[in-house]
Amino acid sequence: MTDYFFNTYKRLDEIVIQAEGPYLILKNNRHVLDMAGGLGVNLLGYGNTSVIDAIERQISKYIHLSNYFYQESQSQLAEKLITLTGYSKIFFTNSGTEATEASIKIVRKYFRGTPRKTLISFTGSFHGRTMGSLSLTAKERYRESFQPLLSDVLHVEFNSPCELNNALNYETAAVFIECIQGEGGVNLITDEFAGELNYLHEKFGFILIADEIQSGMGRTGKFFAFEHFGLKPDLVLVAKGLGGGLPLGAMLGNAKVADVFSPGDHGSTFGGNPVSCAAGFVVINEIVTRELMRNSLNIGEYILGGLEDLSRRYPAKLISVRGKGLMIGAELSFNADVVVAEMLKKGVLVNSASGNVIRLLPPLIITTEHADMFLKSFREVIETVN
Ligand SMILES: Cc1ncc(COP(=O)(O)O)c(C=O)c1O
Repeated sequence: MTDYFFNTYKRLDEIVIQAEGPYLILKNNRHVLDMAGGLGVNLLGYGNTSVIDAIERQISKYIHLSNYFYQESQSQLAEKLITLTGYSKIFFTNSGTEATEASIKIVRKYFRGTPRKTLISFTGSFHGRTMGSLSLTAKERYRESFQPLLSDVLHVEFNSPCELNNALNYETAAVFIECIQGEGGVNLITDEFAGELNYLHEKFGFILIADEIQSGMGRTGKFFAFEHFGLKPDLVLVAKGLGGGLPLGAMLGNAKVADVFSPGDHGSTFGGNPVSCAAGFVVINEIVTRELMRNSLNIGEYILGGLEDLSRRYPAKLISVRGKGLMIGAELSFNADVVVAEMLKKGVLVNSASGNVIRLLPPLIITTEHADMFLKSFREVIETVN
């Protein structure tokens, strides 16, 4: 099988034949608890019947219409997201990176004909892999082979109010921030940094863009992670879990940027596909009605507590644990690959970020029993690995 594909992914040597709730079921009928959640996509777990019903209903009406039409499921999801978040406008994409690209275009048009050109993002950030978003993504490993990227991009030291102050001026067009960096290793912005960013946002009037592609949709216990830190972004980017497993992303904008685009400025053939939007409507309904944000906070705290105990017992191996809700990082003093492999042998899928961080992005439906399964396996692995 492997020969067919461009060599872009390091894949696991396992075949998944079915998936249910938070479990992947492998070829030999082995159940694996998915604490990586399809890299943060499967908020409701696998096989949610309401999502499946909504998809089936929409498929029987139509699978695709062009964006020449208002589409019922797209409009319903737009209304739901706008009512829930208080933003003014939405643009639907197929993915996270396209949401980032859309925001770069808004920024460019908003400041067209002015000296405001500089786009700022932060060390450790990840905003996507297409050429615009890759220009913002700071990690050298992802960028080095693909120069030249966009000019006018500055990568400022994450969580350094002083560096931020030095970098910002009246040529700054936009600041892109993940309030909790995912790929970077689950790094949270400090309250001091958030305060400085708010102050500078007011002072200089650039466009503040929150990348909530990984941290949004209730994962951290609030709908958007920036709510924990009191930021007031002008644009918010979402994707991953939005489409219930179908490709869907979005850019939400406030009144400041609401009228920037005119017809023809931007578009996407598949963006806001009606089937994805029908699924997305159910995802948000379930997050709200089943109080999954509260569950995320509770179970997240429970897991963090267990990890902190473990870190106290094995400080030389488990250097630090951090996170909010069900976006959790456990930083090891060694490469995380061995832990990922050992955990899988024990029937738990985890993922590594930034080399030495075990990152958890499980479905928001997990219970304390699932948390205990993870903690037990993780403890056994930490005890035995060197
Ligand atoms: C914070 C963040 N931004 C952007 C992206 C890119 O999203 P996509 O892979 O859907 O293009 C990701 C994907 O992991 C992400 O975590």
